[in-house]
Amino acid sequence: MSFRVTILCDNSVGPICGALGEHGFAALIEPSGGEPILFDTGQGATLLHNARLMNKDLSSARTLVLSHGHFDHCGGLLPLLRECGPKTVYAHPGIFAHRHRVKDTGECFPIGIPHERELLEAAGARFELSAEFREIAPGISLTGEVPRATEFETGDQGLYCDCTGQELDSTPDDQSLILETDKGLVVILGCCHAGLVNTLEHVAYLTGRRDVHAVVGGIHLAFCGQEQLERTIAAIKGLKLNKLAASHCTGFAAAARMSRELPKEFQVAMVGYTLEV
Ligand SMILES: [Fe+2]
Ligand SMILES: [Fe+2]
Repeated sequence: MSFRVTILCDNSVGPICGALGEHGFAALIEPSGGEPILFDTGQGATLLHNARLMNKDLSSARTLVLSHGHFDHCGGLLPLLRECGPKTVYAHPGIFAHRHRVKDTGECFPIGIPHERELLEAAGARFELSAEFREIAPGISLTGEVPRATEFETGDQGLYCDCTGQELDSTPDDQSLILETDKGLVVILGCCHAGLVNTLEHVAYLTGRRDVHAVVGGIHLAFCGQEQLERTIAAIKGLKLNKLAASHCTGFAAAARMSRELPKEFQVAMVGYTLEV
């Protein structure tokens, strides 16, 4: 199958007149001959605006995926439902958990999904929740929960289940999308809280395939330690990826390192970036 993947929400904006950025992520997956699927919705300030600018009719995407229950991926769901009608929403059952970022200063900010499940359902969301690997459309699968197997992918140490900073939130609900394309697998990441190596190892386990052509999305290295960055880059170098298109929470320093270490493969996937595969 062939697909077009277009970034609709991101922290950064490409050269499209009037497009807006926000801390968040959303991508539209358009399969050849199939219905489009939306992956994430950003925070809610830019999705509808950017889609309109890029002539993407989100009413025709009756299915969407929420990679995980953080505000910067889920906040656009309510305005989307109100403008574009009912949607089937694939996600992990953990997306409605309470979650927080606790800063070194002790300040605490809620970062969970910003709307109640009942409100979203009343607006037209029909949730299909599962922690398991599943195919959601021909050639399009969700990883389900990703096991934390590597010891170096320690993740974001600022995420907690409550404001006291006692219980770390590993964000187990975070999952990625797998596209089976003519060129190999394409993996679309939300925040990749499990770590890129854990995620790609799990994709290999699930599919029996290691021919990953491209990875697109947030790699969350901006919020992880230096050892995780170094060892992730070393692991990626052994994978023979053709494209590493980083968005959102990858972070400037990690992106710069990857750009230098993988100059042929690395791209920055801002609002307006398109992968045709
Ligand atoms: Fe994020
Ligand atoms: Fe996240």
